[in-house]
Amino acid sequence: MSSILVLKDVVKTHGQVVAVNHVSLTIERGEFFSILGPSGSGKSTLLRVIAGLDIPDSGTITIQERIVNADPPHARPVNMVFQQYALFPHMTVFDNIAFGLKMQRQTQPCIRAAVEEMATLVRLEGKLQRFPEQLSGGEQQRVALGRALVNRPVVLLLDEPLAALDQQLRQDMQAELKHIQEEVNTTFVCVTHQQDEALLVSDRIGVMAAGKLLQVGTPQEIYEQPVSSTVAKFIGLSNSFSGMITRTKSGICWIEQEHFPLMMARCPKGLVAGPVFVVVRPEHIHISVDQPCNDYENTLSAVVHDVAYHGHEVFYYFCLANDSIWTARVPRAEVPTPSLVVGQSLFLQWAAHEGFALSD
Ligand SMILES: Nc1ncnc2c1ncn2[C@@H]1O[C@H](COP(=O)(O)OP(=O)(O)O)[C@@H](O)[C@H]1O
Ligand SMILES: [Mg+2]
Repeated sequence: MSSILVLKDVVKTHGQVVAVNHVSLTIERGEFFSILGPSGSGKSTLLRVIAGLDIPDSGTITIQERIVNADPPHARPVNMVFQQYALFPHMTVFDNIAFGLKMQRQTQPCIRAAVEEMATLVRLEGKLQRFPEQLSGGEQQRVALGRALVNRPVVLLLDEPLAALDQQLRQDMQAELKHIQEEVNTTFVCVTHQQDEALLVSDRIGVMAAGKLLQVGTPQEIYEQPVSSTVAKFIGLSNSFSGMITRTKSGICWIEQEHFPLMMARCPKGLVAGPVFVVVRPEHIHISVDQPCNDYENTLSAVVHDVAYHGHEVFYYFCLANDSIWTARVPRAEVPTPSLVVGQSLFLQWAAHEGFALSD
């Protein structure tokens, strides 16, 4: 793979707000890269800087080995898809998709061929003569995609492209977006605040908070080896507690906590003493009803607080001795029988390597 987009120490302020704070990032050709972060973390500003819609205070943006800082948006080999689609309401689907090519003064036959190819890709054949208001939200978003891809950008920037769609449609479109990206083999940089969306479709994810890029990695790396508690809390559901490391040995640490017995967790290199934050994912919690089982190093007493059925999975919520609420996710086929009841006392257990300690 070769790098297609390189950001080096990019800073962008809006008045007093540092929207993008010294971000460096390398994106490879053909990647589906997601930028994930809470609202206000600087995701849109970062995309706008890449697109040339915002001028950075400092730092460089290199696309295909050329520094583009001085280039206006239309001279950069990128295109952008916005959450609000921004279609031309008085133009048909055909004319919306053809717009960029007409601006380039391509010939009619070329334009027709390219638009028809795009319409097939985004599954809008047969709808080319409709106007945007005659389309569903999902179809409008596909027009926006077709319009942005038709002049073959080197990088497609997508700012929360699925945010305006309802849950079911969003899930369908996630898969479709990935399929389209693979089909056109274009680099996608997609901003989202939906972690499930990012984990599902991305080759790599960059997690942003308060203007800073906290971690870049594959979905698996970000989920299983978050570098900080901020990342861990933002990606996936997690149970957590704070404590003090008392001892470490072979990548495992022992943690003291006021309300819990001595706990054991996976420990990153370099963490040897002091305060830590321990994360345990809900799918790693084992529920023992009558007595603790000897297979797990960690055991906590808990009381059933609530039960929620999610189709093929059941989510159990428990109240612990320190008054925090923990979650366990159990596949439908493995739920305890008889059913757990609210108020019931039992034990939550997990293996030492299934919890991980983080330094903040
Ligand atoms: N044009 C602007 N003028 C002033 N502040 C802005 C402007 N655009 C964004 N900001 C501020 O910059 C920060 C990052 O915003 P934004 O990039 O839109 O975040 P996100 O897309 O992650 O929600 C926020 O604090 C926001 O209020
Ligand atoms: Mg935004």
